[in-house]
Amino acid sequence: MAPHAGEAPWWRRAVIYQIYPRSFADGNGDGVGDLKGLCDRLDHLSWLGVDALWLSPFYRSPMRDFGYDVSDYCDVDPVFGTLADFDALVAAAHARDLRVVVDWVPGHTSSDHAWFVEARSSRSSPKRDWYVWRDPRPDGKPPNNWVSAFTSGGPAWTFDEHTGQWWLHSFLPEQPDLNWENPEVQEAMLAVVRFWLDRGVDGFRVDVVHNIGKDPALADAEEKYAALPHCVLNDDPRTHGHLRRIRRVLDSYSGDRMMVGEVFLLTTEQIRPYYGDGDELHLSFNFPPMFAPWSAEKWRACIEEASALLDPIEAWPTWVLSNHDQPRHRTRYGGEARARAAAVLLLTLRGTPFLYMGEELGLENAVIPAERVVDPGGRDGCRAPLPWIREAGHGWPSDPWLPFPPDAAERSVEASIADPGSMLHLYRRILHARRASRALRDGALELLSSPRGLLAYRRVAAEDARVILVNTAEASASIELPSALVVDVASDGVGEGGRFEGIVAASRALILRPV
Ligand code: NOJ
Repeated sequence: MAPHAGEAPWWRRAVIYQIYPRSFADGNGDGVGDLKGLCDRLDHLSWLGVDALWLSPFYRSPMRDFGYDVSDYCDVDPVFGTLADFDALVAAAHARDLRVVVDWVPGHTSSDHAWFVEARSSRSSPKRDWYVWRDPRPDGKPPNNWVSAFTSGGPAWTFDEHTGQWWLHSFLPEQPDLNWENPEVQEAMLAVVRFWLDRGVDGFRVDVVHNIGKDPALADAEEKYAALPHCVLNDDPRTHGHLRRIRRVLDSYSGDRMMVGEVFLLTTEQIRPYYGDGDELHLSFNFPPMFAPWSAEKWRACIEEASALLDPIEAWPTWVLSNHDQPRHRTRYGGEARARAAAVLLLTLRGTPFLYMGEELGLENAVIPAERVVDPGGRDGCRAPLPWIREAGHGWPSDPWLPFPPDAAERSVEASIADPGSMLHLYRRILHARRASRALRDGALELLSSPRGLLAYRRVAAEDARVILVNTAEASASIELPSALVVDVASDGVGEGGRFEGIVAASRALILRPV
């Protein structure tokens, strides 16, 4: 896993594949995916050609937010296995040159966590100040106007009858916010980071990290934003001090340990400070492009913005189209041809791409009948289980916790491997093209002028270059390029290896290399 000579650290070159462990593969037949199931499928991920795995939470949890409500940060929930299973997974992944990134949820615990149970027991509890408590306003109302997520616009506060104060929760009431201004909380959470670094993880995806530092005044949100959950507004400078402290822990370990932050703020501009001066986050998610429609012009604007605000070096961009919180992009963009072209786009931009498990199969969001809805945030559709084989049951030993996505048999891993024209083979070809091209991995990006509906850019590193064309329009587009080029990868698989003739068909994307 040593870097190629002269190349950037692994996390700038890697393609990181997100695994939602409940839905990846079930190793013990209880209908919920687990670490053993995942470990048994690692060869598939090596075959695909990704470089690192990011695992959504697998820690002990009452699962009110399916693991983002942690009741013990240093143990594996029995539904996912044991610490020994985790160690075996890390060893098996490393043996295949796959890095392992785990989710870390620093901003809130579960209300079942021993810390919160203790904190809630009395106002004089030694853990009281580990969370955020306030007296009611004189009229008995919550301390401020903040709104929580997943509560249909409800307050970010719940009243504790026993001690007569409100506790702050940016998400569900069962997810009380930790008070990061308390040094004991910082120490306890840094101990969690060390615990997983000592077990060999390569990094962390840090949940809603911009929400950890808070101004103790807890002033009301501005009226114009007051309907938005507070977690998308909180942007307090105290977080930067916390991040520098966390970064120092990572830097004290050998092996390029990395943290990527979920900075879920409203603009790309707001995420830049979270990289600090190369002493805070290594990477940050940049969500505004994920919400951009399938339009060359809109994407051009997102790329320009990322280039202007995030480059150079100290703020390496990231790109993501789907995750466990949003409807799958195939469903959002409308259809397979667009999802294929989007794969070319995602994997050829300048920055670290994140794939969400199942997008390589072309999965759509699952339709969840009302009686099977389980997520308080309405996100079950993108969390449906991965179909491994054609046959009913799709490789899950028993009925999984959520229904399968549409066309599970045809989109199963088995059927996709058997069909050289499948989306899965397209992802694999693009990933191989990236590995073969330094320009695609860490070269500069130069936007080219192009007709409406066509996005065109060049990636260049030293002697290596590629041209990428992504047609988002309904019609074909023609473009003249200065030198002779060969089609390296075509999103519809047609014409690969042939000379490029200057026309790009609708919803088609190409990676071209100089002849
Ligand atoms: C962001 C995570 O991505 C989401 O799934 C979770 O519900 C919230 N943070 C709360 O932890």
